[in-house]
Amino acid sequence: MLRWPDLGRPFVFGHRGASAHAPENTLEAFELALQEGADGLEFDVKLSQDGRVVVIHDATLDRTTDGQGRVNRQRLAALRRLNAAAHFPAAAGRAQIPTLEEVLERFGQRAILNIELTNYTSPLDGLVGRVVRLVRRFGLQDRVLLSSFFPQNLWLAAALAPQIYRGMLSEPNRFGRMVDGGLWRWGCQALHPHLKNVTPALVQAVHRRGGRVHVYTVNRPPDMRRLRAWGVDAIFTDDPALARQIFSEQG
Ligand code: G3P
Repeated sequence: MLRWPDLGRPFVFGHRGASAHAPENTLEAFELALQEGADGLEFDVKLSQDGRVVVIHDATLDRTTDGQGRVNRQRLAALRRLNAAAHFPAAAGRAQIPTLEEVLERFGQRAILNIELTNYTSPLDGLVGRVVRLVRRFGLQDRVLLSSFFPQNLWLAAALAPQIYRGMLSEPNRFGRMVDGGLWRWGCQALHPHLKNVTPALVQAVHRRGGRVHVYTVNRPPDMRRLRAWGVDAIFTDDPALARQIFSEQG
């Protein structure tokens, strides 16, 4: 089970890497996040048509790459020819869609990795089993945190690999309130609430039940300061350098 370093401050995850300053979910964004002082990396995985685990957030290619259509309709070789930096505002040149293997190999010993299981449009596709197998192959069971908005992904992960830490994501809606209210405890050690859902009472309630609170996506200094004062355990931010600066100002 994951051993959190005792940092005495909210743990900082680079959300899709340092995605404020580099194309999201690329090796470049992950390298930059660590240079900026992130403690961990958060990224999104789903399956290609030929069953390979790839790192990309959306179900479709259009927003972040020069490709079109659904990720799971393309084979890995075709996905690798695309430019994952195509729409990044600062025109970062070229970047490939990473495979999970690449990320585990390059970053597994350098940071805690939060793998979000994002098979939201294909929930029965076998993603969870493939991710668990890869994490085991690299021996990273105590360096990885699995998360998902689909509780069933996490329940399956708990059955397949109980030793891998799990966090349940919640949205600011009715179902999200059920997750925050206690559903997260089923099969998980952490709650990953939306910034809007978080109150001091929620943080205290989760802590009383022995859980951790990891909040997404926190990019504004006042939110960083407030969440730290409330005792949250981790934040996901697009800008780890800013979070480091804010948290170091506060001592
Ligand atoms: O895992 C935290 C955050 O990434 C969840 O929201 O939409 O970025 O997957 P989203």
